[in-house]
Amino acid sequence: MSAHIVVFDSGVGGLSIVRELDQYINHYQLSYLFDNALFPYGELSEEVLCQRVLSLLVPFCQYHHPDLLVVACNTASTIVLEPLRRYLAIPVVGVVPAIKPAAQRSINKVIGLLATPATVKRRYTDQLITRFAPDCEVLRLGSSHLVQLAEQHLAGDLISATQLESILLPWLTLGARQPDTVILGCTHFPLIRDALQQVLGNSVYLVDSGQAVALRVLQLLKLHTAGCQSSTREAYYTKKNAHSEQLRASFEQFRFSQFTRLPDRLYAH
Ligand code: SIN
Repeated sequence: MSAHIVVFDSGVGGLSIVRELDQYINHYQLSYLFDNALFPYGELSEEVLCQRVLSLLVPFCQYHHPDLLVVACNTASTIVLEPLRRYLAIPVVGVVPAIKPAAQRSINKVIGLLATPATVKRRYTDQLITRFAPDCEVLRLGSSHLVQLAEQHLAGDLISATQLESILLPWLTLGARQPDTVILGCTHFPLIRDALQQVLGNSVYLVDSGQAVALRVLQLLKLHTAGCQSSTREAYYTKKNAHSEQLRASFEQFRFSQFTRLPDRLYAH
């Protein structure tokens, strides 16, 4: 039996985590759930988001019996990890902004946090900054538009430099006080890493949490699972629409053999 991992996100951002998992784990069974019905999560209140994620993930995990759950969404991870761990008897790994490695890497001690409007405002994010980057100026930029662009990019659209420049403008005009290190604090953003790097400039170091998450999963699975043989990949989404159909091809590129709407019986109403 290979390990069974559930990866959850509001949209396609979790695929940046799948890409990292693929680097470290040869065979695993993967169920990917994305909540496109309520996308983007960065616009939801904490209360709505927390209830929504619990109502999806608790029944989903109870039905599929995975060995481990990855909440591959910074916006959700900064609030739902504790309640999820209370409901589920499996390891739950979250993705939160990589403040610590960014602070260690920055030379001018100006760090940019690029995330959703919700993540940049979270108390959890404040705590990470106080704990790991007390000597840094942390500039926060929250953009749901950038999340949408990443989503459209994976569905096949090109991203123009002009679109990115207008989002990143607050940092591009800072001169010497421009961040030398930028945290990709949303799992969607590594999917458009090259385009972001081009607009921010090659001297800016981009850091995300993907590798750390994959290593943590590997560490936990060694404790909780034995052996690996076959692997299957299935994707579930919460709303069938033109966009979900556009994404089918992207999931096929990630070797998903099944791409279906989440069955009603797996919603907790
Ligand atoms: C979003 O749905 O707004 C993006 C979620 C994330 O933080 O990865």
